[in-house]
This record gives sequence, structure tokens and C-alpha cells, in this order.
Amino acid sequence: MGKRNNPRDFLITWSLLLLGTAFGLTSREVNKTLCIEKERDALLEFKRGLNDDFGRLSTWGGKKECCKWKGIECDKRTGHVIVLDLHSEVTCPGHACFAPILTGKLSPSLLELEYLNFLDLSINGFENSEIPRFIGSLKRLEYLNLSSSDFSGEIPAQFQNLTSLRILDLGNNYLIVKDLVWLSHLSSLEFLRLGGNDFQASN
Ligand SMILES: *[C@@H]1O[C@H](CO)[C@@H](O)[C@H](O)[C@H]1NC(C)=O
Ligand SMILES: *[C@@H]1O[C@H](CO)[C@@H](O)[C@H](O)[C@H]1NC(C)=O
Ligand SMILES: *[C@@H]1O[C@H](CO)[C@@H](O)[C@H](O)[C@H]1NC(C)=O
Repeated sequence: MGKRNNPRDFLITWSLLLLGTAFGLTSREVNKTLCIEKERDALLEFKRGLNDDFGRLSTWGGKKECCKWKGIECDKRTGHVIVLDLHSEVTCPGHACFAPILTGKLSPSLLELEYLNFLDLSINGFENSEIPRFIGSLKRLEYLNLSSSDFSGEIPAQFQNLTSLRILDLGNNYLIVKDLVWLSHLSSLEFLRLGGNDFQASN
């Protein structure tokens, strides 16, 4: 009886209660911010544009938390998608080499991923299409890798707006590298690879 009224015990109980509340709040906070619905829809739209013959995007969809989909990473505090890594890998099991490539079209729904800072689509097969201009509007991109992905045509002038870009790899495509004006705007750039494309002198 006397023990129950001990002020020290009371204090401990009270502290534990406070601590518990703090933990509860924290985990709820974390949960609340996982996968933003608008971004989830954008990813599903992006998936619809692609031919995924090897089931690489099989985790994308259903009720699953989009931050846990393969190739996706979200900011732990805000829940925004910050990484989209769909690079593929070449393996040479027998005599022939093979990569489980994605083909199809890149949907501009990616523009909904406003906080995307890492985009890797290397080693895929975009069927000689041009690099979509909208990529140049993903302003927060710091890493962009579109190497070995079967892109052709000129590098979009819109790339000049990728001013956060630190690493850019466009190597091994069928790009025509003519005009490098866009490049002069990329003040944060630390690494650039354009090799394995078609360089043409400009006037
Ligand atoms: C967090 O979300 C998962 C499912 O997404 C759920 O099972 C779990 O109970 C949630 N936790 C909290 C603390 O809300
Ligand atoms: C770009 O992707 C290719 C293929 O996945 C990889 O080998 C290369 O290292 C990457 N480039 C950079 C700069 O990370
Ligand atoms: C770069 O961004 C600005 C502002 O968003 C826009 O007005 C301009 O057209 C863009 N430049 C290119 C080449 O897309």
C-alpha cells in the first residue's frame, strides 16, 4: 500500500508512460509518411508504359507499400520517392550473354516524383527512342544513368536544367552528341560519361 504511493515509483511509471507515448508517436509518424499515394500512382503509370518481360516489376502493385517495391527508395522522414533504380545486369551463363531488360516507353508520370534524386535505367532496351525531354525537368536529380539503354537521337536541350546533377552517364547508346551548350549549365557536375556514342562536330 505504502509502496504504491512511493513518489519515486510514481515518477518512474510516469516516465515510462511518456517514453511509450513518444515511441508510439514516432512509429505512427514513420508509418504515415510511407509511400505517398500520388507518387504510387505515378509509379504504376510508369510501369504501364513498360514491357516487363522478365517480371522485374512484379513487386510493383497491389496493396504493398510502394517504398518497398524493388528499385524504389523513399526518404524515411518525408516518404517521398528519392531513388528509382531499374538498371539491369548482364550475365553470361553459357556462351551467350543476357540481360533481363525492360523495354517500352518512359512515362512522363515520373514528373510526379518531385524529390527524385537518383535515376538509373542503365542496361535496358528503349528501342532507339529519343531520351524524353521531361527527364530534363527532374530538377532534383543528382545521379542519372541512362547508359547502354538503346537511346538514340540528340541529347535534349532540356538537360541544361538539371543543375543539381553530379553524375551523368549516357555512355554506350546511339546518341548524337553535337551540341554541348546544355552541358555548360550543369555547374554541379562531377562525373560525365558520353563515350560510346556518335560525336559530331558542331558549327
Ligand atoms: C504501419 O503500417 C503497417 C502496414 O503498412 C501496419 O501493419 C502497422 O500496424 C502500422 N503500424 C503503426 C504503428 O501504425
Ligand atoms: C551506369 O550504369 C552502368 C551499368 O549499370 C554501370 O556500369 C556504370 O558504372 C554506371 N555509371 C556510373 C557513373 O555510376
Ligand atoms: C528550364 O526551366 C525553365 C524554368 O522551369 C524553363 O522555363 C525552361 O524552358 C527550361 N529550359 C529548357 C531548355 O527546357
